This record gives sequence, C-alpha cells and structure tokens, in this order.
Amino acid sequence: MIRTELTRRLGIRHPVVSAGMARVSQAELVVAVTEAGGMGCLGGVSFMPDQLHSEIQKIKAGTANPYAVNLLLPDSLTTEDEAQWEPVRRLWGSLPEQDRAMLAGVEALLTPGAVAKQVDVVLDAAPPAVVLTFATPAWFIDECRARGILVLALVGSIGKAKEAAQDGVDFIVAQGSEGGGHTGYASTLALVPGVVDAVEQPVLAAGGIADGRGLAAALSLGAAGAWVGTRFIASPEAYGHEAFKRRVVEGRLNQTTLTRAYTGKPLRAFRNNWTEQWEDKAGEVAPFPQQYAVAGTLVETGYQDGDLERGMMPAGQAIQIIDQILPAGTIVTNMVAEAEQILRHLANNAITD
Ligand SMILES: Cc1cc2nc3c(=O)[nH]c(=O)nc-3n(C[C@H](O)[C@H](O)[C@H](O)COP(=O)(O)O)c2cc1C
Repeated sequence: MIRTELTRRLGIRHPVVSAGMARVSQAELVVAVTEAGGMGCLGGVSFMPDQLHSEIQKIKAGTANPYAVNLLLPDSLTTEDEAQWEPVRRLWGSLPEQDRAMLAGVEALLTPGAVAKQVDVVLDAAPPAVVLTFATPAWFIDECRARGILVLALVGSIGKAKEAAQDGVDFIVAQGSEGGGHTGYASTLALVPGVVDAVEQPVLAAGGIADGRGLAAALSLGAAGAWVGTRFIASPEAYGHEAFKRRVVEGRLNQTTLTRAYTGKPLRAFRNNWTEQWEDKAGEVAPFPQQYAVAGTLVETGYQDGDLERGMMPAGQAIQIIDQILPAGTIVTNMVAEAEQILRHLANNAITD
C-alpha cells in the first residue's frame, strides 16, 4: 500500500485520481475508478445543471467512496454582465439549430447563467472534493469549507500554484505540458518539484502519467499522488467513440499538438485537419469560450462520431505508452502495483551503503 497525504486526507486506498475530463469522465468512469480504490473525478463542466445533478446522483448510487467534481469558474463564465456574454450569444445564435444540438457537450460554457447553476448543484450535492481549473474564487472556496468539501486546484505554472495556494485550496494539481486538454508550457518533470517547493499544500502530479513508472516518478518528485487523464480515455467506462479510444491506443508521441483552435485556450489534442487549418490563423482565434462556438459541431464530433480528421480529441503525450483498452479499475490497480514494485526494487537494489 502506498500511503500519502492524499490517501490520508481523502480516505482513499490509492494515490490515484482520474482527471475530470469534460465529456469523457462521466458517472460510469468515476464509479469504476472510485470503487477500485482511487478517486474518480466527474468532468462537470460539460453538463447543463440538471444533467450535472443526475450524474452526481448516479455516482452516489454507484459508490459510497469519495469522489470529486471538476468545475471551471473563471470570471468570464460566472459573470452576469450582459455585455461580456454578448459575443458568445452572437456566435451561438448564428449557428444552425442542428449545430447547436451537436454542441450539447459544451452548451453549459456557452449559456449565460449555466455555470452559476452548476455551482448551486455542486454545493447542494456536497461531494467530498471539488477540482477547480483556471480560477479559484474565494467565495466558492468559502462555500466549500462551510460544507466540508475539499478543494483541489489544477494549475500549469508556479505562479498559478502560488495564487491558488493563497486562495486557500487544500491540494494543488500541477499539470505539465505533456498532459491532454488545456495545459501550460512547463513540463511535468520541471513543474511538479517547482510547485512542491513553492506551496505548503500537498501536490498531485499530472501530465504524462499512464502507468506505475509515472506514479513512482510523481512520488519521487514530492507529489502526494497522480492526476491521470489520457490513460483513462482508453477504458470501456470512458465516454467517447471507439475510434477516439483506438487512436489513443495506437497514437504516437508526435501526434498531439498544443492548439487554440477548439476552445480559444491552449489545448493538447490530436493534430488533425482542423488544428492544422488554424496553425496559420492564430490571430483569428476567438477568446475562450467563444472559440467553442466557432469550432461549432467539431467540438463534439470527435467524441460522438469518431470524426478523427476534424473532431476535437484532447489527449496527452502519454499516448506513446498506452497500448491497450483496459477496465478503469484495472488501470488503477496495475498502476499502483507497478509503482510499489518499482519503489521496493529501488529501495532494495539501487541503494548501497
Ligand atoms: C479528453 C480530455 C478532457 C479534459 N477535460 C478537462 C476538463 O474538463 N477540465 C480540466 O480541468 N481538465 C481537463 N483535462 C485535463 C486533465 O484534467 C488532466 O490535467 C490531464 O489529462 C493530465 O494529463 P494526462 O492526459 O497526460 O494524464 C482533459 C484532458 C483530456 C485528455
């Protein structure tokens, strides 16, 4: 057994948390990871408030163990300022009805007021933990404190880690640039120890961790656990088209790119016709979240229809070392068993007096 500040504070068996991946991480994946002794995190940002409520109910029905919910609460999404929403409304309104239906997966990010309602749903449900990305508003952290909800903050730089630490979060998740989804430019190997040194809170390592070698490395860097995304896409419990999952299994290191072409913020995803098309048009990218509407139906077609040439498919460089679709619970137990073996082996064989 590997015991860390993460397993102790959350009361979980293994120091492995599955990332709150929008679309991909729904109740089924969360329950599978949580039941295996890790902690599953619901990709909360993609759900309209009523769906978010029902996904959380499904998790509660599926497991009694601790789980987490991911939310994005930057000012641009929580504001009630009509002027700020105007460009989003305009782009959204210009889409044909059928395209809007295809954008159901990110509708909450394009609908004024939806994120504020997500907050109400999450606070009412009071999950054991919430993971915040992009921003850590003090008002929300206070509400979590009052309900005994632990707050984790996902960051991609030392500056952001310090800000989140000052805002009073309980854990920092330091995500290196090799990770899938929105990410910064610092690599995991440099970022994690830097963040460990910069903040008092326990740190989780993220970005490129897909097996026990990655988990053992994360612990060696001073992390209290691993936050793992891409590896779990290749599981039957993850939401997503089979073609996307196969691409993760077959993918190679150089097939991902950091692109603003889907959301307006740098996102590591599979390189394809759509990302290449935007490489020359960097100046035309609309800011987050408007670019979601510009990318239109493509945001969803990767997940739903397996449109590999244009659909959005966030994935990290760990695709290089993922070669099998495995049940999510097996991913957790294999990862921990392998990390234990490596750490024991190093302690017994690599050190001499
Ligand atoms: C398909 C996918 C969707 C993601 N969606 C989110 C999200 O909604 N919110 C978030 O904070 N991070 C998101 N991420 C980033 C993950 O939280 C995590 O930091 C990252 O996957 C870790 O790196 P790895 O992919 O190498 O394991 C996503 C990542 C992937 C691969």
